[in-house]
Amino acid sequence: MTNTPAKTFHTPLVTLNDGHLIPQIGLGVLRIDDEGVVPVVESALEAGYRHIDGAAGYNNEAGVGRALAATGYNTGEQRKSLWLTTKLRDSQQGYDSALKAFDDSLAKLQVDYVDMYMIHWPTPFDWRSGETWKAFTKLREEGRVKTLGVCNFLPEHLERLHEETGEWPAIDQIELHPTWQQREVVAFCKAHGIAVEAYSPMARGADLNAGDGTIERIAAAHGVTPAQVILRWHIENGTIIIPKSVHADRQRQNLDLFGFVLEPAEHAAIDALDGPTRAGHDPLTFTYA
Ligand SMILES: NC(=O)c1ccc[n+]([C@@H]2O[C@H](COP(=O)([O-])OP(=O)(O)OC[C@H]3O[C@@H](n4cnc5c(N)ncnc54)[C@H](OP(=O)(O)O)[C@@H]3O)[C@@H](O)[C@H]2O)c1
Repeated sequence: MTNTPAKTFHTPLVTLNDGHLIPQIGLGVLRIDDEGVVPVVESALEAGYRHIDGAAGYNNEAGVGRALAATGYNTGEQRKSLWLTTKLRDSQQGYDSALKAFDDSLAKLQVDYVDMYMIHWPTPFDWRSGETWKAFTKLREEGRVKTLGVCNFLPEHLERLHEETGEWPAIDQIELHPTWQQREVVAFCKAHGIAVEAYSPMARGADLNAGDGTIERIAAAHGVTPAQVILRWHIENGTIIIPKSVHADRQRQNLDLFGFVLEPAEHAAIDALDGPTRAGHDPLTFTYA
């Protein structure tokens, strides 16, 4: 499985609390510049990705849009087969500013709607998520957004949003990987019907050799790569994942997760790698853009 053949892969779908179906594996496009993202999205579509995870703050929406237009995935039946996510910049939270920002995102992406619009960070020190959510629901009513989500929300932020709007988001996208499992957030989401989406699912690559070779040993036992072991663990947990790779062979590898099953002891060994160190930022203090 290491030498993944050039074929098109199919991804399972996860049903969300609003009834929409999201492909369980998507391509993340953070830290790829606006020119560079075009071939990256094109190769992902060719491999079989039908879910792209972007954001206004990644400064490459226009490049994603050019790739979608060049491949025909921005209109018609091909557009319907694709799940496209983008996220609002923190600096543009608020009712009017969110609506304006969304128009800009849609124009750059060259599409009529996005499948999911997300609040990027909760910024509890400058809380505007309730107002922002009202703008999001207007966009949903207009059919320009299908599903509403949040990122980096802790249970206290989800509860606050629920108190102000009466709604739970369909998805909470959080940093989640073997050495940072956020079990309390995951349990809260499960209890409230919110799907969990793991960002940095491999800790930006740092977890590939986690546990003094635990991941590598499991990979060798199955004839797969460490990346596939970690991503398979997420899949078995029912988590939506959005691994990023600029390389076509790794993109295919990251979709090719259904030819093996982790033994219960192997799955448990990865569970046991949970630790106290995140790879990214703290939602209580961070603002992205
Ligand atoms: N909502 C948020 O606040 C937030 C925050 C962070 C990330 N995200 C989203 O989550 C996505 C993924 O997170 P991430 O990019 O931080 O980390 P990640 O997906 O855990 O790791 C990406 C790194 O792993 C490497 N890699 C990918 N596939 C590999 C493979 N099969 N074998 C070996 N190495 C591999 C990539 O290198 P190459 O590219 O060179 O292959 C890259 O250096 C982002 O792109 C973004 O869409 C969201």
